[in-house]
Amino acid sequence: MSSNVPWWSSETFWKKTAIWVTSVMFLVLIGLTVDTIPQISVGSERVPAYSVINKHIGYEFNDERNFQVPVIGGPAPLFGKVLSEEEAEALVTHGKKITQGRNCMGCHTLLGNGSYFAPDLTKAWLDPAWSSEADREEMMIAFLMDPQGNARSFGSGRTMPDMGISEDEAKAVIAFLKWMSSIDTNGFPYNFTVIDKEG
Ligand code: HEC
Repeated sequence: MSSNVPWWSSETFWKKTAIWVTSVMFLVLIGLTVDTIPQISVGSERVPAYSVINKHIGYEFNDERNFQVPVIGGPAPLFGKVLSEEEAEALVTHGKKITQGRNCMGCHTLLGNGSYFAPDLTKAWLDPAWSSEADREEMMIAFLMDPQGNARSFGSGRTMPDMGISEDEAKAVIAFLKWMSSIDTNGFPYNFTVIDKEG
């Protein structure tokens, strides 16, 4: 070994450093994962159980946290039917699979994933443009089954193509959107605003 190489620039020093840093960060990553899983699991404080679709979901400004947070209220069964935890999970999962199968993310964003061509769907259930609470479900079904015929201008002039969604599929998608809107996303998306019906 050449002796005029200082220790801090020797190959072995950097090899050992690389091994140590990688090992320590690997452990940190495992620790973070273990810490995160309970916080993102369904049925936790921030991610309500699927049966939350049986309840009213509000969105209120929280002064302490300085953004809007979902507030779970009294009974408001989706489509007038109280579902068991299993039934609610089956419906929400069906809706989630439809959004994946039809690639809604190609235009929309869901929980931070997707595109920005169309409105963020994370809080779409709470969109005040769906008129009153009572009309909301019917308006959403009508929109999803015929987005061209029910197009609502929100300034960009973009409309959604007809995705060939049946009534049952629309209901499942709406259950998924209602459940997703109940998730405490730390105020995300920050730019969630009222879609201007007048255009
Ligand atoms: C080609 C792009 C595109 C695709 C793919 C698409 N959308 Fe849309 N979507 C739009 C546009 C544009 C709007 C806004 C137009 C409007 O409101 O009339 C919209 C609006 C919506 C809204 C209303 C949003 C709100 O906040 O009120 C919902 C709900 C929605 N889409 C659901 C879906 C679902 C579910 C899928 C997949 C099955 C889907 N979209 C696929 C473009 C798309």
